[in-house]
Amino acid sequence: MKTAVFSARRYDKTLLARANGDAGHELRFVEDRLTLSTAGLAEGCEAVCVFVNDCVDAEVLGVLARQGTRLVATRSTGYNQIDVAAARQHGIEVVRVTDYSPHSVAEFAVGLLLGVNRKIARASARTRDGNFDLEGLMGFDLHGKTIGVIGTGKIGLIFARIMAGFGCTILGHDPWPNPAFGQAGGSYVGVDELLARSDVVSLHCPLTEATRHIIDAGNLARAKRGSILVNTSRGGLVDTEAAIAALKSGQLGGLAIDVYEQEANLFFQDLSSTIICDDVIQRLVSFPNVIVTGHQAFFTVEAVGQIMQTTIDSITAFERGEALLNRVPPA
Ligand code: NAI
Repeated sequence: MKTAVFSARRYDKTLLARANGDAGHELRFVEDRLTLSTAGLAEGCEAVCVFVNDCVDAEVLGVLARQGTRLVATRSTGYNQIDVAAARQHGIEVVRVTDYSPHSVAEFAVGLLLGVNRKIARASARTRDGNFDLEGLMGFDLHGKTIGVIGTGKIGLIFARIMAGFGCTILGHDPWPNPAFGQAGGSYVGVDELLARSDVVSLHCPLTEATRHIIDAGNLARAKRGSILVNTSRGGLVDTEAAIAALKSGQLGGLAIDVYEQEANLFFQDLSSTIICDDVIQRLVSFPNVIVTGHQAFFTVEAVGQIMQTTIDSITAFERGEALLNRVPPA
C-alpha cells in the first residue's frame, strides 16, 4: 500500500524499511512534519504514517481524504495529535501502537527522577570542566519517600513497581483503577491527597480534555512543598508557566520533563545553531533543578522495533481488510 511517512528521521527510515521487508508497502518518506502545507506530499497515498508532533486536525484530514487517504497510522501510543472524530467523518481509520515496551518509558522516568534529584547531568558537566566540587549537588534518598503516580496503566504500573523496589510508598490516582497496581503495593487516593503526600509525582496518563493542565497553579499549590514533578507523558498535562512560577518560589523542588507543551516546533531537530525564540523553554532550561529531554523516553531498540513492526502490520491488515487490532476507537 502506498504510504506517506511524515516526520521521518534516519532511524524511522531504516527501521520502518526493515519491518516492511516482506510486507512490501511502498513507503514515501517525508522529513517534514505533517501540516496543512505539507499534506499535499501524501497525494495518492492510501495510508499516512505520522508521529507525535504531526498535525492531524480536521482541516488536514479533509485534505488527506480528498487525496485518497483511508488510513492514518501513528507511530506512538498517544494519539492526542489526531482529531479521531473528524477522521471518522472523512471515512479514515486511525490506528496507533497500543503495546510497545512500556518499560522503555517507565525506566526513563526513573532515570529522569534520579537525574534531577541527584543532579547527575550537572555533576557530569562539572567534571568534564575539571570541577569536582560537590556544592549544590545534594539530593535525597528515595528509599522511604512517597511517590505519586497519576495514571496507572501500562507505563505507570511499571514505574510504580520499580519505585516500590526502591523502598518507596506508592500512591496512585486513576479514574479506572488497575488491580495490578494494588498487587504492586500501591494505594489509590484522590488527586489532592496524592499531591499533598507525595515527595515525587510522576505523570503517566494520556492527554485528553479532562487531563489538560492537570498540573496547574492550583494543584501545584496543593502539592507537598519541595516535591519533584516528572512528566514523560504529554506536555499539555502541565501548565508550564505555572510550573515555572512554582520553581521560582521553591514550591516545586525539581522538574524533569521529556515532553513539553510547545514541543512541536522544537523537538526532534537540531536547533543548536539557531536562535530559539521560545522564551518558556529557555527559562526552563536555565533552572539548575530542571532537566528537559526531547521526547526520547520511548527511544530504545526494543520499543522502536516494536513500533515499526506494529505499524507495518496494521497497514497490512488494513490492506487485506482484516480486523485492525490497534484501531483507535471513536471518542
Ligand atoms: P495506558 O492507556 O496503559 O495508561 C494510561 C492510564 O491513564 C490508564 O490507566 C487510564 O485509566 C489513566 N487515566 C486516564 N485519564 C486519567 C485521569 N484523568 N487521571 C488519571 N489517570 C487517567 O497508557 P500507557 O501505555 O501507560 O501510556 C501513558 C502515556 O504515556 C501515553 O498516553 C502517552 O501520552 C505517554 N507516552 C510517552 C512516551 C514518551 O516517549 N515520552 C512514549 C509512550 C507513551
